[in-house]
Order: sequence, then structure tokens, then C-alpha cells
Amino acid sequence: MADTTVLVTGATGTVTTALRKELKGRPGIKVRALVHDPAKVEALEKEGYEVAVGDLEEPDTLADAFDRIDVLWLLTPASALEPSMGSNAVTAAKRARVKHIVRNSAIKAAHDAPNRNGRLHAMVEESVKASGIPWTILRPHYYMHNLLSSAASVASDGVLYMNMGDAPVGMIDARDVGVFAASVIENPARHVGKVYTPTGPEKTTMAQAAESLSEVLGKPVKYIALPQVAAREAMLGFGLPRWFVGNVVDYGTVYSGGWGDFVTSDFKDVTGHEARSFKQFATDFAPAFGGSVKEAAHA
Ligand SMILES: NC(=O)c1ccc[n+]([C@@H]2O[C@H](COP(=O)([O-])OP(=O)(O)OC[C@H]3O[C@@H](n4cnc5c(N)ncnc54)[C@H](OP(=O)(O)O)[C@@H]3O)[C@@H](O)[C@H]2O)c1
Repeated sequence: MADTTVLVTGATGTVTTALRKELKGRPGIKVRALVHDPAKVEALEKEGYEVAVGDLEEPDTLADAFDRIDVLWLLTPASALEPSMGSNAVTAAKRARVKHIVRNSAIKAAHDAPNRNGRLHAMVEESVKASGIPWTILRPHYYMHNLLSSAASVASDGVLYMNMGDAPVGMIDARDVGVFAASVIENPARHVGKVYTPTGPEKTTMAQAAESLSEVLGKPVKYIALPQVAAREAMLGFGLPRWFVGNVVDYGTVYSGGWGDFVTSDFKDVTGHEARSFKQFATDFAPAFGGSVKEAAHA
């Protein structure tokens, strides 16, 4: 039987990097990586991937990348342009007669979601569902990797600054979103028309995350809950784009109110094993938080 060719978008990003590493070498699966920045082609080719260059903002650049693929892994960068990029990808997939689309959406995506990113994701989900192509949608919970944005202050001052208030969050290691997606892509027929919300195994407050970091790093780490106004000013001061800043503030506001206070069994149901805990994430990423390399046994 011919191999299933999977086009992975976002190939240089956090989640898709984990996904392509999961898929690499699986029998019957061939991975083609869509790369946006031509400067990144060589590194991926050296890793052994077939690479195609394309820009999801520019529909005319996508035909070669989508040619003769069976499955599309559709991840778009967090951006106000997500609906445009998503519909360009779906249109290219229809033209290429793709057999299945697996979409990386976001927690509680809906047209009436209280956050801008959730509303944009709802538009992409709608494009995917209207395509006539069999689909599966993943709506991952908050990525543990978001805490790396505060890694420098954990390393220098032992302070985790986040704008997440004190409510628990069922956050997931972004590597596990890749693990989850690989399970779906390996047997897409089992997952047609399903909407999943992969989460971590437990709900964690940022104060508990700081405690885990303290244990792993062997030094006190304190959580300081940044008020949304202060978070916005700080991020704008660092020169971060306005949409990005607004998106982080939207999430911080709703999570502070308990919006993310849940876990699901989707990860275990689909993969057959537990997702990584926050402690595991902290251990694997200890060097980024200023810990020693020997602590990062499982990265
Ligand atoms: N952060 C969270 O807690 C969370 C939770 C659930 C869902 N999500 C969703 O997850 C997605 C982000 O995933 P991620 O963190 O893995 O992404 P990421 O690390 O930010 O990577 C984004 C990827 O998109 C590529 N890209 C950028 N512009 C492009 C374009 N015009 N055409 C084609 N590719 C382009 C980038 O390529 P280059 O390197 O070449 O620029 C990169 O590979 C977003 O949709 C977000 O809403 C996030």
C-alpha cells in the first residue's frame, strides 16, 4: 500500500515540531513540511524531511506544497490573520483532493467566545467543516510552554510573573499536543467528525507551578500575579505587537475567572496513556528556567 503523505503546517513552531518528530519513521507515513521562511528549509532537510515552501497568507504559493498529500495538519500562527490563512489552506486542500484535515484550534473556540483568539478559531473551524473533506478538530488547553515567557525572571530572580490570576488551569505540555495529533493522523478514519479538547492530567494554579519549579530548580520560586493593565503595559513596553498583547490579556482575564478550570480524559482516551504533568515539563525545561542541564533528563 502507498504511504500516507501528511503535510504539516507550522513545521518550525512548538507544536508541529513535536508532531513531526512523533510521525517521523512511523511505518506507512511520509511527512512533508510546509515552511514559511525559506531560511529554515535547509535545517529541516538535514533532519530528513521533504520540505515545501509556502505562505498561508498567499494562496498562490500553496499548490506545490499541497500536491498529492493525503492528510493536512492545519496549524496557523496565533494572529489576526488566522481566518484568512485557514481558508487559504482549506481551499488548497480542496483543490488537491486531500482526504482528511486535522485542525489545531484552541480551547472553547466559539463565535461568542469571550476572547478574540477563540472567535477567530471558530471561523477557521467553520471553513474546515464546510470543506466537504473529512475532518478532526483539536482544541488544546493552555500550553505549559507559555510559562517559558517568564523563564528569564525565574532564572534571575526566582519570580514567575504571569497574568493568570489564582485559578487552576488544566494546562497541557505542547509536546503532548503533538503526541495527540500523531495518534489521530495515524488512524484518521477513527476520528472523523470528532472535536477533542486535549488537556494535561491535572489542574494547576500558577502558584503550584512556581512550587514545582522550586522543587526542580532547588531554589525558591514565587508566583506574582500580574494585573492585566500591568501585563499589557509591560508587553507593549517590550515592543510586542498590539494584537498579540491583546490576545494574552484576553486569555489572562478569562483564565483568572476560572474559564480554564477543567481537565478532560481526551488525551488518555485517544493515546492510551497519561499526558505529561507540569512537574515533568518543569524537569525537562529546567535549563530554560536557569536549572542545570543534568536535571533535563527527558527533554
Ligand atoms: N499558546 C497556547 O496556550 C495555545 C493553546 C491552544 C491553541 N493554541 C493555538 O496554537 C497555534 C500556535 O501553535 P504554536 O505555538 O505551535 O505555533 P508557533 O510556535 O508560534 O509557530 C507558528 C508557526 O507558523 C508558521 N507561520 C507563521 N506565519 C506563517 C505563514 N504566513 N504561512 C505559513 N506558516 C506560517 C511559523 O513559521 P516560521 O517559523 O517560518 O515563521 C511557525 O512554524 C495558534 O493557532 C494558537 O491559537 C495556542
